[in-house]
Amino acid sequence: MKSVITVLATLATSFTISMSAHANVDVQLDHAPINPTDAASLQAGARTFVNNCLNCHSAGLVRYNQLKGIGLTEAQIKENLLFTGQKVGDMMTVSASPRDQREWFGNAPPDLSVEARVRGVDWLYTYMRRFYRDPSTATGWNNTVFPNVAMPHVLWSLQGMSEARVEVEKGEGHERKTIVIEAPTGGSMTTAQYDRTIADLVNFMGWMAEPHAIERRNLGFLVLIALSILILLTYLLKAAYWKDIH
Ligand code: HEC
Repeated sequence: MKSVITVLATLATSFTISMSAHANVDVQLDHAPINPTDAASLQAGARTFVNNCLNCHSAGLVRYNQLKGIGLTEAQIKENLLFTGQKVGDMMTVSASPRDQREWFGNAPPDLSVEARVRGVDWLYTYMRRFYRDPSTATGWNNTVFPNVAMPHVLWSLQGMSEARVEVEKGEGHERKTIVIEAPTGGSMTTAQYDRTIADLVNFMGWMAEPHAIERRNLGFLVLIALSILILLTYLLKAAYWKDIH
């Protein structure tokens, strides 16, 4: 018994450690204002994702024709989301090899199929809105949620560029550095428009990570009804069998 408890305790600690290592930094995450049943939002997010993210990232667990699940027709998928040579039955993969990409960026862009489950939607929503200019990095960009990330700010023409300054707070025997981001300038969108675009993108990434969430809930309900009918039938059958014995 004692050893079981020790094992459980060890598991619990290693889980906590891996969780905090995963979080990278201690930042305040903004709540992602998303609604997974809003088809227009999911479709807008799909457009942003396919046009801006699939150049580098794959979503290898998703086929283009699965986008019918967010209310798009096959014609709409073909017209708006496919590049020449791709078929609607294809997976969302990239043509560049991960090895080439590691050479270009220093780190390979990970597959984003289930990224919303890995990082959480609030993390994604904050990450995509917290890039800033940093001349000391290879890409010229940095990010407060993911420091020294190898990804450039691919949506900068929409959001604009933010400069940042480091504020150092000196206490007794310790020093605290905070990165303060200035308001972005030169983007084609207002802050409210950009936030909406990112919310839609994150909404779509949430759907992608769990495309059957809504169907599954409905299926669960049907299974319960079917089981109830079965119980009733079994009871009637039992009553019929025992009728003459009593
Ligand atoms: C120019 C190539 C490029 C494009 C385009 C791009 N990314 Fe990235 N992305 C990267 C690279 C490289 C990394 C790996 C960064 C690292 O590990 O330092 C990355 C990392 C990420 C991560 C963090 C992954 C993790 O959990 O470690 C997320 C989330 C992400 N990208 C989302 C997006 C989204 C959403 C888009 C589209 C709006 C996008 N990326 C477009 C190159 C790109």
